[in-house]
Amino acid sequence: MIIEQSPPLRGRVRISGSKNAALPILAASLMTAETCVLRDMPGLSDILVMKGILESLGSETFYDNENECMSVNAGKINEFFADYGMMNRIRASFLIMGPMLARFGKVRASLPGGCAIGSRPVDLHLKGLAALGADICLKRGCVEATAEKLRGTEIHLDFPSVGATANIVMAAVLTKGRTVIGNCALEPEIGDLCRFLNVLGADINGIGSDTLVINGVEGLRGGDYRIIPDRIEAGTFMAAACGRPGGNVVLENVDTSHLRPVIAKLREMGAIINEEENGKKLTVSAQTRLNASDIKTLPYPGFPTDMQAQFMALLSASTGRGVMTETLFENRFMHAAEMSRMGAQVKINSRVAIVDGVERLAGCPVRATDLRAGAALVVAALGADGITEILDRFHLERGYFRLVEKLRGLGAFVREG
Ligand code: EPU
Repeated sequence: MIIEQSPPLRGRVRISGSKNAALPILAASLMTAETCVLRDMPGLSDILVMKGILESLGSETFYDNENECMSVNAGKINEFFADYGMMNRIRASFLIMGPMLARFGKVRASLPGGCAIGSRPVDLHLKGLAALGADICLKRGCVEATAEKLRGTEIHLDFPSVGATANIVMAAVLTKGRTVIGNCALEPEIGDLCRFLNVLGADINGIGSDTLVINGVEGLRGGDYRIIPDRIEAGTFMAAACGRPGGNVVLENVDTSHLRPVIAKLREMGAIINEEENGKKLTVSAQTRLNASDIKTLPYPGFPTDMQAQFMALLSASTGRGVMTETLFENRFMHAAEMSRMGAQVKINSRVAIVDGVERLAGCPVRATDLRAGAALVVAALGADGITEILDRFHLERGYFRLVEKLRGLGAFVREG
């Protein structure tokens, strides 16, 4: 992607459906033999990989690119093994485990891949499924889970893992009896998954709290569901709007209740943010360079790790020193080295980055090392002097739908290289 020195961003942008809500919801479509119609489904490469995984198991899928709508029918599942070629491309592939186990009593899948941002184990997923009564066996890089009958139980997660919560919820929905999951993830994408499952006939209570109570049901029907707006895409556009003084961007199709930590941090740094239409729309502007601030990533509702890189780009051109602490993933500062090539002053010590703001970054060739690192380079480039060439654009295509088109709509000088 080539970004030439651009004017401050101005205009309107519509935020797409959430990738990280859509992925577990697609996995959950495996739990019913009836058709699921999923609206506001972004046509991202990660979504298409998940679609391919569902098809490889026997699901019939159709994606209407224009209307961003996917229909899935898992009425004829005939495969219970997902191989390395499929599973190593996205981490969320592992979310097929809970649904397949619950509906068919068996599943085998290669351990998952995904962005290289840390070791990313799946022990909490497996502990949860085992607590429900599954036999788990690890062999030659594959996990096999089988169960004659799962049984509701109490599970308390050691850590509120998003993926583990999703997998356990999905398994529990079709499990006889009551399952209580304590210390579960509070991320809005978990709430969206639960609401979708309830539309299909599940009985999940406590949505939005740290304890989910699931009364198992015999089976699920089909349903029609609209996916929540992507809070990380929204946050990325908010950061981009503040990257160069004078920006003024209206974001449509947002849920500001999911954006609290990002809104609070940007306001603290000097941005002006107005919420309208019951929190479905917001305007972001920054008249001057932002002030530095200290930021620590935490599980929701703390500051999202998926916004850490984009905020490092903002801190790099802010008026002081900001300390960024990454508590979720141990290897999520790879963008710092690329930003340093643009003139950013970043010192890293393990999970802490000290960022001294400079007046202006300078464009140069840089490489996206993962999805959000790529997003951070876009934010940095939009505020920088000169031309930035971002290599390995495919990372961005995993998580930002129609990015070039949306940025151009805001006046940025962006093109695909
Ligand atoms: N963890 C374990 N054991 C487990 C599961 C997780 O130790 O069994 C650890 C992880 O290693 C990590 C922490 O717990 O240190 C958080 O992991 P979590 O399971 O919560 O994250 P995830 O489900 O793998 C999702 C998003 C990520 C996002 C994180 C945190 C999806 C598909 N991915 O990952 O999104 O960073 O939650 O909010 O929903 C992205 O979109 O760029 C992205 C990486």
